[in-house]
Amino acid sequence: MPAISVERLSKVFHDKKRGEFRAVDSISFEAGRGEIFGLLGPNGAGKTTTLRLLATLLKPTSGTATLNGCDIVREPEKVRGSIGFLTGDMGLYARLTPREILQFFGAFHGMNGARLKSRVDEMIETFGISSFAGTRTDKLSTGMKQKTAIARTALHDPPILILDEPTSGLDVPTARTIETYILEQRAAGKCIVLSTHVMEEAEYLCDRIAVIGDGKLKMVGSMEELRAATGKHRLREIFLDLLDMK
Ligand SMILES: Nc1ncnc2c1ncn2[C@@H]1O[C@H](COP(=O)(O)OP(=O)(O)OP(=O)(O)O)[C@@H](O)[C@H]1O
Ligand SMILES: [Mg+2]
Repeated sequence: MPAISVERLSKVFHDKKRGEFRAVDSISFEAGRGEIFGLLGPNGAGKTTTLRLLATLLKPTSGTATLNGCDIVREPEKVRGSIGFLTGDMGLYARLTPREILQFFGAFHGMNGARLKSRVDEMIETFGISSFAGTRTDKLSTGMKQKTAIARTALHDPPILILDEPTSGLDVPTARTIETYILEQRAAGKCIVLSTHVMEEAEYLCDRIAVIGDGKLKMVGSMEELRAATGKHRLREIFLDLLDMK
């Protein structure tokens, strides 16, 4: 069974101005253990909505998905136990320090005592957080906050990581720290689904890429498959080609 199986997933929003608005339109794909799966699409394409549906923060209008064998509609609590979800807005508590945030989330996931402390220390080490682990989050830079947010997402060692624009706003070294971590997680057999606007990052990280536009899946495949289908080489050109934006 694949780690993630998405079946004709749709989300309709009811918007005053736009009326019924199909943000995600019958999307289907699978992603496996030890795979990094990328979602690419222009602003408003439906990437965040798709990831929020997978993370059970939104209910689908129709269709469903299973994550680690659990159905997002029927077993949302079980799904939540199998995933780490990095949202675009980071969701950090301004008055807490990175160490406090990690301790809080570890406790939330049932860790305590020496195990919690050693796991928090390990994440602080992995993400280079130690120099600011005791500083209030509202006094941290974008990159420091993002490192903290990713450490929090992965703290409970879930089999599936769902990362919405994990390197957005980060400098090259910080982005590399996070990319390296994502590659290590893949090597450890995790399934990682991420969205990005950075074509180089998608090419560097992703085993397969889904291009979405207007809520629809335009194509899914490896770089070689996307190249063969479009006759283009660079992902930027493939992307524009699939979206008819040449
Ligand atoms: N809660 C909501 N109510 C109404 N419409 C929404 C809601 N959330 C998202 N949408 C709409 O759904 C569409 C897809 O939005 P989404 O945030 O998924 O796009 P995205 O691909 O993540 O874009 P970006 O690259 O800008 O992050 C947009 O048109 C957006 O306005
Ligand atoms: Mg988004």
